Amino acid sequence: MPAPLPSAVAALEPDPGAAAGEVIRMEGVHKVYDLGEVQVHALRGIDVRIGRGEFVAIMGPSGGGKSTFMNICGCLDRPTRGRYWLEGRDVSELDKRERAGIRNRLIGFVFQGFNLLARTTALENVELPGLYARLTPEERLTRARAALEIVGLAERAGHYPSQLSGGQQQRVAIARALMNRPAILLADEPTGNLDTRTSVEIMEIFQRLNEQEGLTLVVVTHEPDIARFARRIITFRDGRIRRDEAVETGLRAETVLAQLPPETDADGE
Ligand SMILES: Nc1ncnc2c1ncn2[C@@H]1O[C@H](COP(=O)(O)OP(=O)(O)O)[C@@H](O)[C@H]1O
Ligand SMILES: [Mg+2]
Repeated sequence: MPAPLPSAVAALEPDPGAAAGEVIRMEGVHKVYDLGEVQVHALRGIDVRIGRGEFVAIMGPSGGGKSTFMNICGCLDRPTRGRYWLEGRDVSELDKRERAGIRNRLIGFVFQGFNLLARTTALENVELPGLYARLTPEERLTRARAALEIVGLAERAGHYPSQLSGGQQQRVAIARALMNRPAILLADEPTGNLDTRTSVEIMEIFQRLNEQEGLTLVVVTHEPDIARFARRIITFRDGRIRRDEAVETGLRAETVLAQLPPETDADGE
């Protein structure tokens, strides 16, 4: 049985925004990268609210500010100007150490490049965030096994990344992101390195986590067909939000998978 993934909101003090179900709220967020000679104005006044249980796709051309937005969402970086509330708490002024604490408790990250440790098994990779969160070894193991089960890789727990396909490695990365039971899962082009079928398999996991566990998801993608697995699409261009709309004809990953040609066997059977 996969373990439930309760929101970490209980760890924070009550507050009006969070009570209203707001996970992310930004007002007038700007980000300027200061490179000495030049300044890159990556975000130019972002106002956005994302509620608990939403599944949002972020789209838009390269250089539009998507990753910068995600990094601020995930407290990897902070705004140059403007305010950001995460689960009702103003995190725009927190220092590095405080942001790291928030990240551990509330945020799960998935990147395009998987970022797994090579000489470490799938299970150990998944367990890693539990180490930083100082879980007991028993709790780490229990949670890591449950997370691998959610992504359908329980049988591959002892495999090293090199023994896994790209899609399987990304599923390990998702399991790792679930380890600390985040309130929100952020994924920056998680299917950027994957073929169509594997990409849809990843979206199937996201849809399941969203619908069954109520996990809030924000996923960057270049591909309109992938964005349609989400329920809302926000489009960035030149550091601004250009569109923000509900997905009208959404796609069910399960249905799409059933229609795609089956996986070809690696052995060429
Ligand atoms: N660490 C950084 N230092 C300097 N400039 C950056 C950095 N990260 C991003 N940028 C610049 O900020 C702008 C937005 O980039 P980014 O957020 O990565 O967009 P996207 O993810 O949509 O491609 C681009 O002009 C990019 O070159
Ligand atoms: Mg990017």
